[in-house]
Amino acid sequence: MAIARMNNIIKRYEKQRVLDHVDLEIREGEILGLLGPNGAGKTTLIHALSGLINIDSGHIELFGKPQEGTMLDTKRKIGLVTQDITIFEDLTARENLAFFGGIYGLKGTDLKLKIQETLEFVGLADQAHRRPGKFSGGMKRRLNIACSIIHRPKLLIMDEPTVGIDPQSRNHILESVRELQRQGTTILYTTHYMEEIQSLASRVVILDQGHVIAQGTLDELVTNIQHEEKIKLEVVELTDVLVANIQALPGVKQVILKGSLLEIISQARSGNLDRILSLAKQAGGVISIQAEKPTLEDVFLTLTGKQLRDKEDS
Ligand SMILES: Nc1ncnc2c1ncn2[C@@H]1O[C@H](COP(=O)(O)OP(=O)(O)O)[C@@H](O)[C@H]1O
Ligand SMILES: [Mg+2]
Repeated sequence: MAIARMNNIIKRYEKQRVLDHVDLEIREGEILGLLGPNGAGKTTLIHALSGLINIDSGHIELFGKPQEGTMLDTKRKIGLVTQDITIFEDLTARENLAFFGGIYGLKGTDLKLKIQETLEFVGLADQAHRRPGKFSGGMKRRLNIACSIIHRPKLLIMDEPTVGIDPQSRNHILESVRELQRQGTTILYTTHYMEEIQSLASRVVILDQGHVIAQGTLDELVTNIQHEEKIKLEVVELTDVLVANIQALPGVKQVILKGSLLEIISQARSGNLDRILSLAKQAGGVISIQAEKPTLEDVFLTLTGKQLRDKEDS
């Protein structure tokens, strides 16, 4: 079931279409990875989905209802971790949680209980009475996340929550995201880090210059672009005959010699891995053979002709 849907969304800033005919579906229980380089329109998409900005045209549905005139109880099913950390530096961690819990309608012992549980969940229980002014970036972000999940949202939207954060907090955050999903939260996770998407997301939407250029599971995306595969072969004895036999296989495009190692570029799903293996065995034995699978990076490169890592900021 779709928890949220965006259909044909257009959002302009002056003449620039920041979102250009965007379609997107968030399915119940999934971690949907929204991947795109800086300036792709990720934050704008999230703001549109959460109702923080108006769109120029298109249709948004939340929990099966049109977003316009969203009722308070719908808003309370959503948690938003904004790109910039939103916490009060002169309130203690506990007071921050009490404030945000109050906004979401929690009070009394329920609020107290949730504050304690949530502080423990993000690993800040021992910091409850400290003001976050002197927290590290990672601790501030964890408090920020705590404030966004204090009301146990069904849909959690996270906008690049690990940018500029130390590796330890980063791992803690990624593990928390997985745990929230295990507990039944649906998550829209935005990032420009491929590795995070690869390790977290069940499905991916790739956004580039306001366009959704691909949407699907990692396997689907990789399969779609996979026209070629690279097979790496190491043999006991490298002979001209073996190289010639491999070169003669249908679908083999290139054979590159690297010392005792052969790199073979072959049409994908041609069955050549098995054929090469038996040729090599006949020729005197195989030390190792492996086919390299394309990565999300290759998908992005194929679709856009550019590398996502160009402007890596950390
Ligand atoms: N309030 C705004 N006014 C004008 N342009 C904006 C505004 N917000 C975003 N943009 C522009 O929209 C594009 C997408 O921005 P953004 O959604 O922040 O991308 P991302 O989050 O993927 O980095 C950028 O070119 C940005 O400069
Ligand atoms: Mg952004």
